[in-house]
Amino acid sequence: MVSFMSSPATSSDREKVVSKLPGWLRQNLKIRAAQHGIEIQAAVEQGITDWCSLAATPATIDTAGADSFSTFLPPGQWEEFRRIAADRRVSLIQGLAQSVQLWLDANPSPDIERPTITRRIVVCNQKGGVGKTAVTAGLGEALAEDRNTLHPVRVAKALTKALRASEAHDDAEVVADPLDIENLPGPGLRVLLVDFDPQCHLTNQLGGSPLPMNGDSLTNHMAGDPKGDLRDLIVSVDDDTFGGRLHLLPACNDAFLLDVRLSAVRAREAALERALAPLEADYDVIIVDCPPSLGLSMDAAAYYGRRRDGEKPGQSGALIVVQAEDSSADAYELLTTQIDDLRGDLQVDIDYLGIVVNLYDSRRGYIATSSLQGWVDIKDPRVVGLIGDLKEQKEAVRVKKPLLSYAPKSQQAVGMRALAREVL
Ligand SMILES: Nc1ncnc2c1ncn2[C@@H]1O[C@H](COP(=O)(O)OP(=O)(O)O)[C@@H](O)[C@H]1O
Ligand SMILES: [Mg+2]
Repeated sequence: MVSFMSSPATSSDREKVVSKLPGWLRQNLKIRAAQHGIEIQAAVEQGITDWCSLAATPATIDTAGADSFSTFLPPGQWEEFRRIAADRRVSLIQGLAQSVQLWLDANPSPDIERPTITRRIVVCNQKGGVGKTAVTAGLGEALAEDRNTLHPVRVAKALTKALRASEAHDDAEVVADPLDIENLPGPGLRVLLVDFDPQCHLTNQLGGSPLPMNGDSLTNHMAGDPKGDLRDLIVSVDDDTFGGRLHLLPACNDAFLLDVRLSAVRAREAALERALAPLEADYDVIIVDCPPSLGLSMDAAAYYGRRRDGEKPGQSGALIVVQAEDSSADAYELLTTQIDDLRGDLQVDIDYLGIVVNLYDSRRGYIATSSLQGWVDIKDPRVVGLIGDLKEQKEAVRVKKPLLSYAPKSQQAVGMRALAREVL
C-alpha cells in the first residue's frame, strides 16, 4: 500500500513515498546508482519522469515477491505518476518497477577506467614484519573486487578523523563506527601480485606453492636466463569476488641468489622492468611485495615503480608500510635515502604513493599515538592508510585465504578497501 508521510528535514523538499519493489530490482538499482555515484532517489525520480512521458507502457516486469521500498521524490511527482498509472491501467507496483528498469536500461554500468600505462605499486620497507605482505595482498584484493556487488568501505573521513584524534592526543580509534562505512562497488581491476621476496610469504599466504628451485622463475627472467614464458608461472587467486582478475606470480627460493645473479647483468636496476614488461598488457595494476632488504632487488623494484614518460605523477611508485613504533623511523630514513639516491643517480622520478601505518593499536598508549603523530607530521608523503592490529589478518594467513574473501566485512577488509581508494 502506498502512503504519504511528511518529509523529514534531511531530505529537504522531497516527500517520502512508500511502495514495493522486487528484491532483485532494488539490488540492481542500489548497485547501479553507486556505480554512477548518484543517489537512489534521483535515479527513481528520473525513471518515473521517463516512464510518465512514454507513449505506451513498456513490457511487464515480474514483481512477484515485491516488498517494501521507500524513497523521496519531488512534491507532486508521485501524485502525477499515480494518475498516469491509473490511465494506463497499470498497478503502482508494476509502474514503479518499469520506471526503475527504464532508468537501469538508460544507465548501463559505466566502463571501467583502465590506466593507459599499467600502474606499478612497489610495497616496501626493509624492516621485516611491518605488514608489507599483508598490505600487498589486501590492496590487490580490494582493487580486484567485483564491481557488480557492493562492499563495505571505511570512508575517507574516518581516516582524517582518526588522524585528527591522534593529533589531539586522544586515543585515535581505528575501528570505524558504523556511520563511517559506505557500501561501494568494487573497482574490478585486473591485478597482478608479484611475490618478490625469497621467503615466499605472499605465495604461501594466498594458498599458492613456491616455484620449484630447478624450474623457471622471475629470478631467471631478471638474470636474462628465462626457461619459458613468465606468464606460465602465474596463478589465479580464485574467489567469486575477484572473478579471475586477481593473479599471483609466485616466488621461488632462488630469489635469495638474486643479487649474485644480477651482478653480471647490465643495467641491473632495470632487470625487474625487463622481466615484467611483457605481462603489463594483461593488467591494470601490478603490485610488488618487496623483500625486507635494501639490496639490488630493492633498487630494481624502486626503478620499476619510477614515473614513465607520459605517466602522471602519483600513478606508480613506492608505498611504504610502517608500524606505529619508534624503531620504524630509522628504517624509514634508510629506505627513503636509498630511493632518493636512486632518483639522483639514475635521473628518474620515483614517486611516493604514501605511508601506510599498520598494526596500529591505540591501547598501546603514548608510544603508539605519538609515533602515529610522527608519521602524520611527515606530510610528504602523507599517511594514506591506517590499519589496526586485528585478528582477522592473522586468521586469514593461518587458513591461507585472501583476507577479503575470508573476512569481507572485517575492520581489516574495510580498511584495505579504503586504502585502495586512496591509492587509486
Ligand atoms: N594489521 C595487522 N593486524 C594483525 N596482524 C597483522 C597485520 N598486518 C600484518 N600482520 C601479521 O604480522 C606478520 C607480519 O606481517 P607481514 O605482512 O608478513 O610483514 P612483512 O611483509 O613486512 O614482513 C604476519 O603474521 C601478518 O599476518
Ligand atoms: Mg613480507
